[in-house]
Amino acid sequence: MLFVFLEFVNSVVVIIIHSLSAVINNVIPMFLWPKKPIQDEIALVTGGGSGIGREIALNLARSKCRVVLWDVNEKGNEETARMIQELGGKVSSYYCDVTNKEMVYKLAEEVKRDVGNVTLLVNNAGIVNGKKLLDIPDEKILATFSVNTLAHFWTLKAFLPSMMEVNKGHVVTVASVLAECGIPYCSDYCASKSAAKALHQAAAREMIIAGSDIKFTLVCPYLVTSGLFRGTSTRFPWILPHLTPEYVGRKVVEAIQTNQEYLYLPHQIHAAVLLEHILPFKGQLVMEEFMGANVAMQTFTGREKEV
Ligand SMILES: NC(=O)c1ccc[n+]([C@@H]2O[C@H](COP(=O)([O-])OP(=O)(O)OC[C@H]3O[C@@H](n4cnc5c(N)ncnc54)[C@H](O)[C@@H]3O)[C@@H](O)[C@H]2O)c1
Repeated sequence: MLFVFLEFVNSVVVIIIHSLSAVINNVIPMFLWPKKPIQDEIALVTGGGSGIGREIALNLARSKCRVVLWDVNEKGNEETARMIQELGGKVSSYYCDVTNKEMVYKLAEEVKRDVGNVTLLVNNAGIVNGKKLLDIPDEKILATFSVNTLAHFWTLKAFLPSMMEVNKGHVVTVASVLAECGIPYCSDYCASKSAAKALHQAAAREMIIAGSDIKFTLVCPYLVTSGLFRGTSTRFPWILPHLTPEYVGRKVVEAIQTNQEYLYLPHQIHAAVLLEHILPFKGQLVMEEFMGANVAMQTFTGREKEV
């Protein structure tokens, strides 16, 4: 009994130390943190043909990583590859539908043979429907989960073993702040991002138990102006501004270089996430109504309406 009590006191003290160090780290701007070198790492970015994925890829190339792009958008992929070459970077692009696990496993072998061991995996590809729960066709719900969640299983299974062999690597999951709560007209997306977050957390813990030094970074951005969430409204843009893909891409690579476990953007979104977790249901509804989250998706048009 005494032993359990001492263990409890020890755990509380260590938790307090970790929490204080996290608070201190959060007030020091990321660009002042010591950075781990990532030059010459092979970094694979899914969904690298557009938006946030493209910006992550460009910033990885600026940090001298060799970049591998996987996307179904071949034109976008080629464009990103061209932009990286213009920076003087090394890049290989592949048509890859990350929902097709056979294709993922086959291409992973191809990348290993032609480029080398991937030690930096960015699971970024994502889609959204933006429809009322009862209006989403079944196949669209399956597609959302296939891209936003299941694909992460296939890429982790494809690349984690070789990272474990060399006990080196970094996995980034681009989830969303919507992994934290379900908002109207976004049920499949929110659920798929929550699942991706849980997968990420479980995988990170399994690697720790396995004694591995592979790092994990969970990225949860608020609205980004890539076009994916085009039309979505925000009530107080001066509190929660729409982020640019350039900003998110830069922050993600900084988070990789500083081994940050969590990256919520913008920082002030932490307050909303905390309230979401501690408020009672009716309190959550009041907060969401005040912030306009309950109607945010009513004006959603997304990429389908792009001309
Ligand atoms: N845009 C936002 O407001 C926002 C906010 C939070 C999180 N996110 C997440 O960030 C990530 C990137 O989104 P974005 O805003 O850059 O959108 P985007 O549409 O610009 O980029 C997504 C990319 O994923 C690719 N993709 C889609 N299905 C694929 C598949 N089956 N196989 C391979 N590639 C596929 C697309 O072709 C596209 O290039 C997504 O996971 C998204 O959910 C976006």
